[in-house]
Amino acid sequence: MPPRICIVAPVFNERRNLESLVQRLDAALADVAWEILFVDDDSPDGSAEEIRRIARFDPRVRLILRIADPGLANSCIQGMLSSTADLLCVMDADGQHDPMLIRDLIQALETAPADLASACRELAGADCSEALGVRRSRLSRLGNSLIRWAIRRETRDPLSGFFVIRREACLAVVRRLSNSGFKLLFDILASHPGLRHVEVPFRFQPRQAGESKLDALAIWQFGALLAEKLSRGWLPARAVSFLAVGALGLLVHLAALYAALGISLTFAAAQFTAALTAMTCNFALNNALTFRDRRFHGVGLIRGWLAYLAICSAGLLANVSMASWVYERLQGLALPAALAGIAMDTLWKFVISDRVLWRRRRTG
Ligand code: GDD
Ligand code: MN
Repeated sequence: MPPRICIVAPVFNERRNLESLVQRLDAALADVAWEILFVDDDSPDGSAEEIRRIARFDPRVRLILRIADPGLANSCIQGMLSSTADLLCVMDADGQHDPMLIRDLIQALETAPADLASACRELAGADCSEALGVRRSRLSRLGNSLIRWAIRRETRDPLSGFFVIRREACLAVVRRLSNSGFKLLFDILASHPGLRHVEVPFRFQPRQAGESKLDALAIWQFGALLAEKLSRGWLPARAVSFLAVGALGLLVHLAALYAALGISLTFAAAQFTAALTAMTCNFALNNALTFRDRRFHGVGLIRGWLAYLAICSAGLLANVSMASWVYERLQGLALPAALAGIAMDTLWKFVISDRVLWRRRRTG
């Protein structure tokens, strides 16, 4: 029987949770033809080997092993595109999502009828705080409110990572997705206003083993994605992150400048030190946040840093040329000329960073 539903389960360091997930799916979906696609981002804990082991006894179990472009949303998208099943179910591989709910999701999808049915965590109840902790619950509620406001849709839990979507609906929206970070459901809802969506409440369970990968980085990416959606796609998430790092760099520059003046450096030396510090800091932050999926490691870091300094110097040239050009045309209005110069400089730095310095590579 060809599978009717494909479970897409992103995996990063979940070796100890995988077998029990397959057993629970088996029990929950006894009369449905299903398959599971584990999408592993090259987990160092041997998850892929464990999946191969399970697959030797169970042909419903498949593996996509990824060695480039890591990320939760990326992995889910690749998994969804790799199945021929009519229904696609994205769920966590760590046991926090109860496979029994998949039936309810399918039923909700069919009775509505809808294109997408998502499991909505009861964030206000005590039930979820056990699994999420009070702080995470609060953070999720705040995130959900921001999303509702940004996408103008009445959804209770657009941050959920557990949903069933029809394949055609997925294919209709997939090219518009931002593709970055943790929040796939939000991205889908925001990118397809006509999508028919229903929610089914469920209890988010505690993890079986291992730990959550949602960290400060995921929250940063969420902020950038939110800004992208609020700007209706005009500002891509990466550009938002780049701009935020740039703004932070300005503060770093000022702090370093005053510190350098404090130890009685001449102004020129202090300004030079501050600029170098800010550029280095920007490089490190962009490497860790904005272009994390393509980041430099080890000795590559030094090469990347030197190249970034070169790009910034060229940016300064672009800045001054643009500002002078505007200054002449506006008969000596300094402020708009300076702003135009800075805009040009920033645009140059972003485009070269995105297309050249941190361009997509085959591996790493
Ligand atoms: N392939 C891949 N790549 N998988 C990943 C990655 C990654 O970079 N990061 C995490 N995963 C996998 C984990 O192995 C797990 O199966 C699933 O994605 C969810 O990750 P968790 O680290 O367990 O996330 P969480 O439980 O803290 O967050 C849950 O709640 C969020 C809402 O607050 C998830 O359901 C999220 O999807 C959801 O948005
Ligand atoms: Mn989890």
